[in-house]
Amino acid sequence: MSKQDFLPIKGWDHVEFYVGNARQAAHFYHKVFGFKPVARMGLETGCRDRASYALQQGNVRLVFTSSYTPDSEVARHCALHGDGVKVIALEVSDCEAAISAAHARQAQVIQRCEAFEDADGVIKTGILRYAGDTVIKLVERTNYRGPFAPGYQKLHVEHVQGVGMAAIDHIVTNVYLGEMDYWARWFERVMGFSQLTHFTEKDISTEYSALMSKVMENGSGKIKLPINEPAEGKRKSQIDEYLEAYNGPGVQHIAMNTADICKTVSELRARDVDFLRVPDAYYDDLKDRVGHIDEDFEEIKRLGILVDRDDDGYLLQIFSQPVQDRPTVFFEVIERHGSRGFGVGNFKALFVALEAEQARRGNL
Ligand code: FE2
Repeated sequence: MSKQDFLPIKGWDHVEFYVGNARQAAHFYHKVFGFKPVARMGLETGCRDRASYALQQGNVRLVFTSSYTPDSEVARHCALHGDGVKVIALEVSDCEAAISAAHARQAQVIQRCEAFEDADGVIKTGILRYAGDTVIKLVERTNYRGPFAPGYQKLHVEHVQGVGMAAIDHIVTNVYLGEMDYWARWFERVMGFSQLTHFTEKDISTEYSALMSKVMENGSGKIKLPINEPAEGKRKSQIDEYLEAYNGPGVQHIAMNTADICKTVSELRARDVDFLRVPDAYYDDLKDRVGHIDEDFEEIKRLGILVDRDDDGYLLQIFSQPVQDRPTVFFEVIERHGSRGFGVGNFKALFVALEAEQARRGNL
């Protein structure tokens, strides 16, 4: 299918979380996940209503923001959703044109293209409404040389040992039953994305719960945004559990690429990151299922890493436990060897594991 890329995207720009305590969140992502704090804004920089920290590792930028006041947009978001992702930011080369194109295609524009300036240059941003309270921010930073964005002050933090996160691979959103198609079509219409894959409940179901997923991808293939919705099952699906805990649709997980998943996961485990427990039985016939891989099967099993193979190659992946009290947002670490998939062969094994955790929380 030939399509005109009317909204060309250069890549992921950043992901912003609204959290209860940005200072502590930044410390956690610094010391545990290996992100280097690069810039900050708050009272010291003249910002009276919120504090933000921007952290970076490889090409992954995360921002953590909390409110100084009880009735701000940030505070309300936290009260309703707990800590969670507010902004998925994508880099564009022409913000004005991108927002105009999205507007012409019936996107709900929350903020028209605006320029923000400081001594390091100009950034232009515009904001589109996405699922629930989540927004998509388009960022033009070609003429900006600062550490993150105008208003932020550069941080001089001692070098932190990264864990090898190189880039964002994909970001998954959970929506209510019946909304997946709306957002899949929205990405086609507004952003010029196309549908890469469609998983039905036949692919992704266990005895108890099922989900459906459509993976949307931009023209260059750099941006992948899967959208999940719950499917009917015997019990409450993990997507329903999320929607209930988050009080609505929102980002379920952020997957980050590494070039050496064994090293990354060893390091994260040494720093006490909790991962989803994979049943031992998963590894019993793994060799038969995936064939030859460059990594050592024993090490893969010891670290609890999942493997999947498709026609293009294989991938290695692992999922963290939720990173806040509510069973909502979590992270995935992924290493791709040719495969452009999402580990559909792992879904079954993974969901059995997820449901075991859900049952432990009394939510199944
Ligand atoms: Fe994923």
